[in-house]
Amino acid sequence: MEDFINIENVSFSYSADDENIAAPEYVLKDISMKIKKGEFVALLGHNGCGKSTLARLLNAMSLPNKGKIYINGVDTSQTSSVFDIRKTVGLVLQNPDNQLVASIVEEDVAFGPENLGIEPSEIRKRVDDALKAVDMYDYRAHAPFKLSGGQKQRVAIAGIIAMQPQCLVLDEPTAMLDPKGRDEVMSTVKKLNRENGITIVLITHYMDEAVQADRVIVMDDGKVLISGRPREVFSQVELLKRHRLDVPQATELMYRLKGRGFSCDEMPLNSDECIRQLEKMLKRNN
Ligand SMILES: Nc1ncnc2c1ncn2[C@@H]1O[C@H](COP(=O)(O)OP(=O)(O)O)[C@@H](O)[C@H]1O
Ligand SMILES: [Mg+2]
Repeated sequence: MEDFINIENVSFSYSADDENIAAPEYVLKDISMKIKKGEFVALLGHNGCGKSTLARLLNAMSLPNKGKIYINGVDTSQTSSVFDIRKTVGLVLQNPDNQLVASIVEEDVAFGPENLGIEPSEIRKRVDDALKAVDMYDYRAHAPFKLSGGQKQRVAIAGIIAMQPQCLVLDEPTAMLDPKGRDEVMSTVKKLNRENGITIVLITHYMDEAVQADRVIVMDDGKVLISGRPREVFSQVELLKRHRLDVPQATELMYRLKGRGFSCDEMPLNSDECIRQLEKMLKRNN
């Protein structure tokens, strides 16, 4: 897989351009990371560590003060490529109500492609395909405000998908949803990654969502703390706790049992793995 996102020594400050401030405070501090085409990355970190700022830099809504970001080889700070970058990297935000603009679902999804100046027949096809991809085709004639939170967020995702991005950056897309809505959105995100090959950067506070990614990147105070497969990252329970981060519930349970002298082969990441470890433990103790 080739690198799709390449972040090279990026620093960002909200006050760097303010001449009245002698020493601007950087919220991203010399960050470097690479994300491959088709990869599904979960981005974690305590509130205020710079995740949303990084998300905005990824689709050229903000530009680095130092360093470079390349999307598919294109420098985001090149003015002539801003339009292409925004088309290539779609940003999905926390609150679907802020992203829905029309009073009928299919009109809402058509809004993006219409603004791109795409032909009506092509728009029709894209809207249908996007609504099918998020399993909301049957709701195409409904009013968005009557939908559940999970359904609204899926329509918002369809609106972005209809612009045919190669990458989706989702900034806490499930934070305002109930467990059912969260599952719906996560299934959609995984499907878009596996079936449509869309590169995913999912910012989340839910560790059970993060374990479903190919890779987890943990940020802390504007820097990258750790990056690795979910199992590698979540086995470092103490490091994460020191940085005020949670681990998945299954991992937490096993961590506490280990602290009381029980041994386990491998830290579980979900309830199925936890049950298997507990069964082994019980057999050993019999
Ligand atoms: N528009 C802004 N202007 C000034 N400071 C901001 C702005 N947005 C965020 N910040 C600050 O930048 C830091 C990182 O914020 P943010 O990227 O939103 O973090 P996260 O998404 O990880 O919670 C925080 O200290 C926050 O207060
Ligand atoms: Mg944020």
